[in-house]
Amino acid sequence: MNDGWRVGVLYSRSGVTAAVETSQHNGTMLAIEEINAAGGVLGRPLVPVVKDPASNPRLYGQLAAHLFRDAGVRSIFGCYMSSTRKAVMPELDAHRGLLFYATLYEGFEYHPRIIYTGAAPNQNAMQLARYILENYGHRFLFVGSNYLFPYESNRVMADLVRQVKGRVVEEIYVPLDCRRQDFDRVVREIRKHEPDVIFSTVVGSATAMFYSAYHEAGFDPAKMPIASLTTSEAEIAEMAPGVATGHLTAAPFFEGLDTPAARAFVSTFKARFGPQAAVTACAEAAYFQVMLYAEALRRAGGDDPDLIVSHLLGLEYDAPQGRIRIDPDNHHTELWPRVGRVDASDRFEVVWNPGVRLKPEPYFVEPTLDEWTFARLRMKKQDLRSEP
Ligand code: ACM
Repeated sequence: MNDGWRVGVLYSRSGVTAAVETSQHNGTMLAIEEINAAGGVLGRPLVPVVKDPASNPRLYGQLAAHLFRDAGVRSIFGCYMSSTRKAVMPELDAHRGLLFYATLYEGFEYHPRIIYTGAAPNQNAMQLARYILENYGHRFLFVGSNYLFPYESNRVMADLVRQVKGRVVEEIYVPLDCRRQDFDRVVREIRKHEPDVIFSTVVGSATAMFYSAYHEAGFDPAKMPIASLTTSEAEIAEMAPGVATGHLTAAPFFEGLDTPAARAFVSTFKARFGPQAAVTACAEAAYFQVMLYAEALRRAGGDDPDLIVSHLLGLEYDAPQGRIRIDPDNHHTELWPRVGRVDASDRFEVVWNPGVRLKPEPYFVEPTLDEWTFARLRMKKQDLRSEP
């Protein structure tokens, strides 16, 4: 057990969120393999202890407990749905464990032993809202999966919409393990309200069902797109060709991001996992957080979680999306916000790219679009880095 640094890898490769979590699993394993190929950390390899919690929050909690208690693990890379992160939190407290969480989420959280490497709402929801308001209109219809992240993410989006005198015309939730028929009602509500945009917080395998139902109903994405923070390359791969075309997201990384670092990452990823492997923003975060862990481990000289955290705070890394930094104030990550629209070949085309690294503000209590505008970005230069 002492010949390597044992780390937990806790992503679902079965169940409703298997597609995107498989991309995170792949990103994690790629980083571990690269670190080990370069000699490991302090002469010892990273040893992944891999579990599949099957998209079931209860299993995340149980397997995290097992990893910390029985498997010699002190840090876990894992979780996608916020309900699964919440299920792991008591185990972090009980076992003094550390979690690296590589998923966009609703914000309003801090844990001394969680490092959050996905986007907080001020790094994706605000940008998406502004892009929609400027290009499509003010009448939003919300559709979400029935759990924590969609409720909270909708609350943030509703605040943004109401500030500009916009309206949320309807808010609908579908079960996580829903069937195609669950979207018949959603389609009826869309027809009835004719919103300018549909903000979707549907996650996992239901995503392809929803976009297919929208497509079959004959709606026009050029006039009324689906905008979603949880529709990535992994969910699009589960749709028929053309079904996702014209729809929107906001994320710090896309498979089609046209920079040397992004292109190199995508090509290494696909060489390792196959040309069909989805390289999502969540996969990119899953990759770079292992790199950050390895650097902190090297500096700390041991894998005690509190020591690792102390070396992570303020740490920077040249990630595929650009140079990122762990914010020492809140354990979230300074990231590069971008907006993407799916093009005719079902790939995200970057349609808005301010070229700035943005500080995470997970507790922005009264988010204002004005605060976020370029004027503010220019005023707060100290929070930003310019893209080279
Ligand atoms: C999520 O549940 N944080 C996507």
